[in-house]
Amino acid sequence: MSQRTLLMVKPDATKKGNTGEIIKRLEGAGFKLLALRSLRLSKKEAQSFYGVHRERPFFGELVEYITSGMVVPMVLEKEDAIASLREFIGATNPAEAKAGSIRADLGEDIQHNAVHSSDAAETAVREIGFFFTEKDLV
Ligand code: CMP
Repeated sequence: MSQRTLLMVKPDATKKGNTGEIIKRLEGAGFKLLALRSLRLSKKEAQSFYGVHRERPFFGELVEYITSGMVVPMVLEKEDAIASLREFIGATNPAEAKAGSIRADLGEDIQHNAVHSSDAAETAVREIGFFFTEKDLV
């Protein structure tokens, strides 16, 4: 089933000039780009976006880091996009990500891991709606 998901290029990757490389890999793997933005999240927006992690010990650092620079959220479409994208970008910790994946090649550590992607269908709907409206999706 064709599905939509959200990928967000994080500040470590935008700072290093890896946004283009990431988009090239995603398009090359058959993910169709439906919408794209660049912005810097406010503290409030970051706390809301990562709200499920509010109680985690790393929440404060996560919010500080994700607001430290530009992020590039995008909506991607493909067969089974959510699972397929998670497989393609590799494990959260770049040290554990499979060879050749975006996080293995371009991430630094568990916090500076180049990209975020939605982890489930309801999360994808929420995260897409966080950045885009239906009319943005071409
Ligand atoms: P992401 O997929 O964006 O979702 C939440 C983020 O929290 C995660 O990627 C990591 O970058 C970040 N994070 C920082 N520290 C940890 C940790 N100890 N365990 C899991 N995620 C962490």
